[in-house]
Amino acid sequence: MGFNTVCVLFLVLFYLGWSEQCSKGYPFEHYLGTRTPYRIVSNNSFHKIHYEGCTPKKVWMIIRHGTRNPSTSNIETINEKLPKIKSLILNSQNLPNDFIKNRDLDLFKKWKSSLDSEDNNLLAHEGEEEMLLIAERMQSRFPEVFENVYSNTTYKLKFTHSQRTKKSAYYFAAGLFGKQTAKDVWFPEPNKKDPILRFYKLCNKWEKEIKSSVKDRGEQKTFQETHFIEKVVEEVNEKLGLNELTISDISIMYITCGFETAWNKRSKSPWCTPFTEENLKVLEYMEDLKYYWQDGYGHELTYKQACPAFGDLVNHFDTTSAYPKAVIYFTHSGTLLKILAHLGLYKDNEALTASNYDSMSNRKWKTSLIDSFATNLALLLYDCSGTKKVLTLHQENIVKLPCCPDTDLCEFSKLTEYYQESIDRCDFEAMCNTSTINSSEF
Ligand SMILES: *[C@@H]1O[C@H](CO)[C@@H](O)[C@H](O)[C@H]1NC(C)=O
Ligand SMILES: *[C@@H]1O[C@H](CO)[C@@H](O)[C@H](O)[C@H]1NC(C)=O
Ligand SMILES: *[C@@H]1O[C@H](CO)[C@@H](O)[C@H](O)[C@H]1NC(C)=O
Ligand SMILES: *[C@@H]1O[C@H](CO)[C@@H](O)[C@H](O)[C@H]1NC(C)=O
Repeated sequence: MGFNTVCVLFLVLFYLGWSEQCSKGYPFEHYLGTRTPYRIVSNNSFHKIHYEGCTPKKVWMIIRHGTRNPSTSNIETINEKLPKIKSLILNSQNLPNDFIKNRDLDLFKKWKSSLDSEDNNLLAHEGEEEMLLIAERMQSRFPEVFENVYSNTTYKLKFTHSQRTKKSAYYFAAGLFGKQTAKDVWFPEPNKKDPILRFYKLCNKWEKEIKSSVKDRGEQKTFQETHFIEKVVEEVNEKLGLNELTISDISIMYITCGFETAWNKRSKSPWCTPFTEENLKVLEYMEDLKYYWQDGYGHELTYKQACPAFGDLVNHFDTTSAYPKAVIYFTHSGTLLKILAHLGLYKDNEALTASNYDSMSNRKWKTSLIDSFATNLALLLYDCSGTKKVLTLHQENIVKLPCCPDTDLCEFSKLTEYYQESIDRCDFEAMCNTSTINSSEF
């Protein structure tokens, strides 16, 4: 075969593969909320980042574990509900139709649940790869601070008390130093309730007054009663030629669509096929509402309590000691979101509520983008001819902090001035103490 023939053949195969992926003609992977795989949002560039006259000296990075398995309760619901829904679909007299084609039915035929409840929350293969790749790219962007030779003095690596963050840390280290060396990397014994990596576990007031109220009577719950959700339920039933599916059935289908998409780059989950793009946007909003009120801007205490973690960053950049160069923490969505809000990133002018779905369609607070698996935030300290400056990356993309809206590099003194209250008045015990008088926001 000549070069042209090979080329044409390749293009045809590429096109067929691509059109199969996008068979419903829209990017369903972009609306998966906190189950979005990192590859959808990552910046895959390996280019060295350079600012004239400046040298990177230190990094402080905080990372959500990579793609994982579902929680125990999700696994139980999947195993209980989905086989029943699958057989309803396969026995539906109204299928195939214009929306659910034979190839979608084939996907359902082949589907079975692969998880036991003991597999809950474990890091998935995709999560290993996410960590390896982030580490490799960060190292090639900033070789001065992500050294490729491991040393216990240069690196401070830490994970929370969980398999998924421990494994994430290992694969990240493997991306930096190779798998063999990664086995010898020293990690401190994880804390059950780490005051920096998972501060909110120590904040009784947040647990009692915010977390539980979001769950029991929050905006997400109210949104479930609106016509937006009613329409999703109606349309999904109609597409499948059924009438018995409820919002809780549809929620577990959406959750499974997310996980299976994250786990498998190449094959499509049947559970994604019954949704239109608009259906997924509504389900994504339901998810965003939960996290906005639980881990985001909804309540001041939620993000205020991130001050010990922010203080850890400031101390790392403030100290005259050159070591460790790299502080890297492996943690959870709840930490990442609270820190993003603490910094003032992705803040909308209006709060997300059950009644403003339409006007918030261009909101900044989209968990699919800001809280995917392996979500990460990296701050780099530069020395620019004696002036300390800070570069911020979220999902490996340069972001501008509110204190420096016009420049990538932000003077460290400007940053400490802007967040002065967080630095000077971080009385975690007092703000999280349930016997302290309720603040005015409640
Ligand atoms: C990725 O990051 C680089 C800087 O390292 C930037 O120039 C580029 O625009 C980013 N790519 C995307 C797709 O955002
Ligand atoms: C690594 O450094 C920490 C202190 O930062 C120390 O407690 C630990 O023992 C060291 N581990 C090894 C293997 O040297
Ligand atoms: C919480 O506040 C009460 C009353 O002000 C005080 O007695 C108690 O020691 C505080 N608890 C903590 C953990 O700070
Ligand atoms: C604080 O507010 C919550 C509800 O927002 C309430 O349940 C609780 O009793 C209040 N605590 C005090 C000490 O007033």
